[in-house]
Amino acid sequence: MEVWSIVVAAGSGRRFGGPKQLVELAGRRVVDRSVDAMARVSAGVVLVGAADQLADLTTSGADRIVAGGATRSASVRAGLDVLPESATHVLVHDAARPLVPEAVCDRVVAALVDGADGVVPVVPVTDSLRSVDGVPVDRARLLAVQTPQGFRLDALRAGHAGDADATDDATLVSGLGGDVRHVDGDPVNLKITGPDDVRIAEVLLDD
Ligand code: C5P
Repeated sequence: MEVWSIVVAAGSGRRFGGPKQLVELAGRRVVDRSVDAMARVSAGVVLVGAADQLADLTTSGADRIVAGGATRSASVRAGLDVLPESATHVLVHDAARPLVPEAVCDRVVAALVDGADGVVPVVPVTDSLRSVDGVPVDRARLLAVQTPQGFRLDALRAGHAGDADATDDATLVSGLGGDVRHVDGDPVNLKITGPDDVRIAEVLLDD
């Protein structure tokens, strides 16, 4: 078994108002923190960046750097294309989650060792929920999905065949009937989406 990671960082940061992966959190860029977290738990890291930011990413510490695509799924596929032959499993991580605790990665890898096709870290939803039509939604039936998501490489490649598109990879592997398991995520593993998230992340780093 050889586990590699793909860190996707090629988003435009439209909701953030700029390239959030290059923003510094307590003196260190979001993307560098994410690459470092995945390097600790895998044999190598492929970083997928926006074509016009590749020069900024050479100091990230990633083993391979490649340009992404127009959608997150296309960016994951760009990463899949440059994995070494020796890789058997892959962790796909959003660069926008720079605080991922090592314990979350360890739980994902442990489930892969146990034979899962796919592994998704999840956390309970704590807010009360309503649909856009005003219909109350039972939060006990819902889970929020985080990254890194882990996969048997064959299973993830099959999910991405035919240029499929989804906001996460587990959706593509589940759609083919793969054995996709849940493990505990962590509320600390927040996704930097807006400027307020940078302030929250800095508080968490200060703890
Ligand atoms: O847009 P969203 O916040 O869901 O993006 C999640 C992750 O996917 C981010 O780290 C972003 O940089 C990455 N992404 C990408 N290529 C795209 C769109 C998003 O690598 N075309």
